[in-house]
Amino acid sequence: MKIAIGSDHAGLTLKRTLLASVLKELDSVDLGTDSPQAIDYPDIGHRLAEAVASGRYERGILICGTGIGMAMTANKTRGIRAANCSDTYSAEMSVQHNNANVLCLGGRTLGPALAERITRVWLNARFTGGRHAERVKKIELFNQ
Ligand code: RB5
Repeated sequence: MKIAIGSDHAGLTLKRTLLASVLKELDSVDLGTDSPQAIDYPDIGHRLAEAVASGRYERGILICGTGIGMAMTANKTRGIRAANCSDTYSAEMSVQHNNANVLCLGGRTLGPALAERITRVWLNARFTGGRHAERVKKIELFNQ
């Protein structure tokens, strides 16, 4: 699975932690930022969302201070289903039931151990399909 990851300045430390742990053995690409200097989260969020929606990457991970701004941003792109998760159950369900293709995390709200666990669970989860496929299709129908 090819994975893209991106963060603003507030998510940089957690992003580096994930790249050195959970993502170390996986096929992942960092789409920025690589500086602690302040950057607007939509600049990275849109970049990553478009890269995932284009099919270049199967899934993406976005980190800002809370995960909220990144989720709001990524969900503007057609085909993106971004879930801001702060527990492992939600992370698993976001894929099993909602077919989430972007995980959003809060660099200022999650400790590294929990964030790593959430990320592992999310990457290992698979969409259940069935009745959930019909529901996920309805999400896309709204903005034709
Ligand atoms: C940056 O200070 C902060 O606003 C941003 O990282 C994010 O939390 C927005 O949702």
